[in-house]
Order: sequence, then C-alpha cells, then structure tokens
Amino acid sequence: MSQPFSILFICLGNICRSPLAEGVMRSVLQERFPQREFLIDSAGTNGYHTGEAPDERSVAVAARNGIDISAQRCRQLGTVDFNRFDLILGMDQNNLMTINRLAPAGSSAVTGLFTAVARDGFAGNSADRGEEIPDPYYGGNADFERVYRMVREAAEALADRL
Ligand code: 4NP
Repeated sequence: MSQPFSILFICLGNICRSPLAEGVMRSVLQERFPQREFLIDSAGTNGYHTGEAPDERSVAVAARNGIDISAQRCRQLGTVDFNRFDLILGMDQNNLMTINRLAPAGSSAVTGLFTAVARDGFAGNSADRGEEIPDPYYGGNADFERVYRMVREAAEALADRL
C-alpha cells in the first residue's frame, strides 16, 4: 500500500501557529477527501514547550471554529522528520531558515513557506516567497483570530492542490 501524503507544519514554539495549522488542515482534508488518508503533524524549531498542550488561545480560536486541538502535544522538529514527511512547511522565514539548515543531505521532503506553497504549489521554485503568518504569542485574541484566518485560507488553498 502506498504511504499517505504527509505534511508537517512548523513554527517556533509548536504551541500557537503550527498546532492550529495541523488541526485546520486535518479538518479541511476530512471535509474535502473523506476517503483519503493523510498524515498531518506539527512541530517547533525550539523545544521550550515539549510535551505541553497548545496555547489556550489557539485551543479557543480552534474551538470557536469547531476544531478540537486540545489533545495535541508539543514536540521539536528533528532530522528524522525529513524522511517521514512529503512537505515541511514553515509559518515564517525564520522557521523556514531553521528547517532548511536542519535538512539532511539528500532529504526528499519539500520545504517551503506555508502561504507560498499553498499559493504556488510544491513543484515550483517560489516556495520561499510569500506572506508570513505572524507569531501571536505576545499578542491578544485579535492576533490569534488573524492567525486562524490566514491558516484557514492557506489550508484551503493547499487542499486545492492535493
Ligand atoms: P508559535 O508561538 O511559534 O506560534 O508556537 C510561540 C510560542 C512560544 C514562544 C514563541 C512563539 N516562546 O518564546 O515561548
């Protein structure tokens, strides 16, 4: 049996943006392709929050939109991920730099900025130019709402390409 298509979402802490991206992408794919199997996950470039649940503000904005991300647990990106995932997508340019620095030689994973890959697909070469999904950690509810909207839009656009 062929492996399910797999996507790993990356941010700095894996408690605000990438858990939302994981939950929203899984929800969008279940709606669009109920018969297809995907592997969707998220991780952080740092390990400060390893083992923790997502930030309560991300849990809340997801819940307001009918998505439960409360069971997710934070983990750090590792080199093994480059052999497990087809796509590894950063929320901002710093995330993407760290992803690309960690990528082992010969890695088959396609890396890119989430919004750019959603817009342009993952066969082209503009996967690094696009809008960044801003870190809401020091922000308020409006920042988490904005992150949710950006993540939702990018997830819908990426699903169009699968
Ligand atoms: P995230 O947000 O990268 O979207 O999960 C952050 C979460 C925690 C920290 C920074 C950003 N932190 O410094 O602890």
